Amino acid sequence: MTKVGIEKINFYSPDFYLDLAILAEKNQQNPSKYYNGLGQKSFCVASLDEDIVTMAVSAAKPMLNDADIAQIDTIILATETGIDQSKAAAIWVHKLLNLNPNCRAIEVKQACYSATFALQMASNYVKNHIDKKVLLIASDLSRYQQNTPAEATQGAAAVALLVSSQPNLAQIDDIAGIFTEDVMDFYRPNNCSTPIVDGKFSTQIYLKAVEKAYDHYQKQGGLAFNQFAQYCYHLPFTKMGQKAHEKIAKTTETEVDLTKVEKAMVYNRQIGNSYTASLYLSLCSAVDLRDDLAGQSLAMVSYGSGCVAEFFRLIISENYQENRPKIFNPQPFANRKALDFDNYNLFWNRIDNQADAIIPQQKSSGCRLHEIRNYQRQYQL
Ligand code: HMG
Repeated sequence: MTKVGIEKINFYSPDFYLDLAILAEKNQQNPSKYYNGLGQKSFCVASLDEDIVTMAVSAAKPMLNDADIAQIDTIILATETGIDQSKAAAIWVHKLLNLNPNCRAIEVKQACYSATFALQMASNYVKNHIDKKVLLIASDLSRYQQNTPAEATQGAAAVALLVSSQPNLAQIDDIAGIFTEDVMDFYRPNNCSTPIVDGKFSTQIYLKAVEKAYDHYQKQGGLAFNQFAQYCYHLPFTKMGQKAHEKIAKTTETEVDLTKVEKAMVYNRQIGNSYTASLYLSLCSAVDLRDDLAGQSLAMVSYGSGCVAEFFRLIISENYQENRPKIFNPQPFANRKALDFDNYNLFWNRIDNQADAIIPQQKSSGCRLHEIRNYQRQYQL
């Protein structure tokens, strides 16, 4: 059987962030509610010249060499904050990365879950096309109405994964537990720039769905819960992952060992919710911050509102340390700049559907959106 999975992984998050103590003061909340109650320290905020395309390019570019580019024949962009109702953002990314013209380009959507679907499809594809590679990028800006409980759980990031028959970071196991149910916990109608969210209900349905996905995984003969060395969860805020971990541990009568989740939350605690990228950012955090994972099993727990959940296993490769984000970007947070509330407000009030605009330069380096002409977005590398 051909081994397939993730060959390399890298992430990118915007340079600007808001410390949650500033938001707490503005919203008259105790900062401890955000720091300890939600388990979040800060969230990244996209500048006006940043969008899902610039973040996707910034995540993928440092990780790809000429040989990869020659072998990539499919690019999939997973997002729920698309920039066009028709054209796939993957096509802009394809151009900016200078990929082969003989390449498929597609965008996929199902709230925070779609990157997991794309990873499964990509893995099945490379099983039958062992000389090809799929570039999968999850990229999202999470933005909620201001002065609501959800505001503290915003964020932005992209994660790029190269999927191939050389799974030098992690092999993907065939067994997956899945669960779907029609619920309205979080959704964004076409005319809304921010989602409608029933926050408390969404946390309950998240817990139910991941437990159901785990049960389905078990019914197919998957590993026992205590056989995993590390767990990565979709993290709208890190306390959510902790609650899910405690819930599955309780139902399986397994002792809760939070040391097996903590390292997978470090990046998300700083970056905030990055929707489709969140689970894969948690994976970046785990493989970057742990040096003892070679040959170990890692549980991936995916959730997207609406809702779909999936529980699957990655088997970490012996040489994973050569293919983790640290290799492509040794100091991912070195350029972060703290925002005050007024500048956060300016960035939050971005208008994404302008017909014509010259976008002010705010990013100090890398791919940026510089102009919109007749609704056509123009990017600079
Ligand atoms: P809230 O009203 O701020 O909640 O909304 P709260 O008052 O229950 O407080 C939160 C926690 O802080 C509680 O802990 C409090 O006790 C604690 P818990 O009881 O849950 O363990 N707390 C404190 N702790 C320490 N010091 C204090 C203090 N005060 C209170 N002084 C909510 C929270 C998550 C609902 C809100 O932020 C929200 O609506 N967020 C957006 C929705 C969301 O993230 N849902 C998660 C599941 S759905 C999902 O993951 C999908 C999603 O990513 C979208 C997609 O799939 O596309 C969102």
